[in-house]
Amino acid sequence: MINRTYIKDLNTKMGEVVTIAGWVDVRRDQGKMIFLDFRDMTGRVQGVILPNYTETLEVGKTLRGEFVVKVQGKVNPRPERNVKAGVLNGELELEIQEIEILNKAETVPFAVNEDTSCINEDVRMKYKYLDLRSERMQNNMRMRDKIITFFRAHMHGDDFLEIETPILMKGTPEGSREYLVPSRLEVGKFYALPQSPQQFKQLSMVAGFEKYFQVARCMRDEDTRGDRQPEFTQLDYELSFSTQEEILNLTEEMFIKMVQSVYPNKKIQQIPFPRLTYAESMEKYGNDKPDIRENKNDPDLLAFCWVVDFPMFEKNSEGGVQAVHHPFTSAKDDDVHLLDTDPLSARANAYDIVLNGYELGGGSIRIHDREMQEKIFNILNVSEDQQKLKFGHMLEAFTYGAPPHGGCAVGIDRIVMLLQNEPNIREVIAFPKTGEGKDLMMGAPAEMGSAQVKELGITFKIDK
Ligand code: AMO
Repeated sequence: MINRTYIKDLNTKMGEVVTIAGWVDVRRDQGKMIFLDFRDMTGRVQGVILPNYTETLEVGKTLRGEFVVKVQGKVNPRPERNVKAGVLNGELELEIQEIEILNKAETVPFAVNEDTSCINEDVRMKYKYLDLRSERMQNNMRMRDKIITFFRAHMHGDDFLEIETPILMKGTPEGSREYLVPSRLEVGKFYALPQSPQQFKQLSMVAGFEKYFQVARCMRDEDTRGDRQPEFTQLDYELSFSTQEEILNLTEEMFIKMVQSVYPNKKIQQIPFPRLTYAESMEKYGNDKPDIRENKNDPDLLAFCWVVDFPMFEKNSEGGVQAVHHPFTSAKDDDVHLLDTDPLSARANAYDIVLNGYELGGGSIRIHDREMQEKIFNILNVSEDQQKLKFGHMLEAFTYGAPPHGGCAVGIDRIVMLLQNEPNIREVIAFPKTGEGKDLMMGAPAEMGSAQVKELGITFKIDK
């Protein structure tokens, strides 16, 4: 490892000779002297090669932006008139003695020492590793890490256990198309990638863990838009012997503490978060994710609210009945009788948390009784054979002492997007996909070698 000082710590080394390592951010050649700004993961610093360092000046002349260098220099205070107050290292300057080039760089396709948001997004996507060098993207990723770290610690502090659930599975119905992975050992069969860990978290309750959480990757083959990606991350949690009230309260407390800890400058409009029924929200705002901000121009205002009492079912485009949340959600006690007479009027123990007009997350109290689960599948027109085939494991698990349980999942990408005031979730995901679900940097999805495909027993018939 190179023995170096982080750029952010230079102000503790005034008068000392130090070594830093990083990238050339800017070079300003003034003939007799060269000014160089350097960047590492902790910040930027200005350095100068003075005329008496002739050899170093020669090296300095060959440097361009994004060269990787190791620099030895003396940390000097800046003359009074050059001090930049409030800027990291604004009070100091590195008197460069030696520069070692660790790697050269071609001219980059766009400047990374500026905000890249105005650069063509396809170009940013192709060179994501360069885009991520920009200060805004570095900051977004670091804040994302802080938020996730906070959630994890908070969950652990409340006795939740993080359990990793499978990525190769049989699919779980969350209303989207699933990504499929062909099996090599059982040709003709497929795994599905999880749309969420829904079934596994419920089975973790049957398994007796009582308090589960996971920072979980989810995959959904749906049309991508600003607040949707084909793969995204949820903070997913589930509790046994719980109530809707408890889940709403612990979620609310977690968000309030997260904001206070990670974003102390932001204001939460109303605590406790207002609660609207689905019916009220539809009537008053015409949608189920109302933006209730008193001042929509205030970038630091966070207007959380809950939408509760969603309907159990809705009609789909083919005239059939589908679950509004998912088929594992229970009906409100008062409405259970409607399941037999008028299921479309039955309300669910389901809730969404909304922030500034975006659905951040949702959850429900689940069914834990086999007969009730079968009844819901029947209403959803899932045949007995299909019930057995697709959900036999859930139905069976419910017969071996399944505790009452419920939970919630919140979308990490959307949370970071809103807190970072970014216009879409691609800005807060390290390696996102385009609107068409492509990774322009790696070139995914890609054709696979014919031998690999053949091994999977797959042949293609391309429709002309
Ligand atoms: P749901 O489908 O409502 O619930 O998802 C929960 C939250 O995940 C986020 N989200 C997405 N974020 C980015 N891109 C996407 N394509 C995407 N889809 C969803 C949203 C959303 O509110 N298993 C249930 C939760 C439960 O019942 O406990 C579930 O996944 O922020």
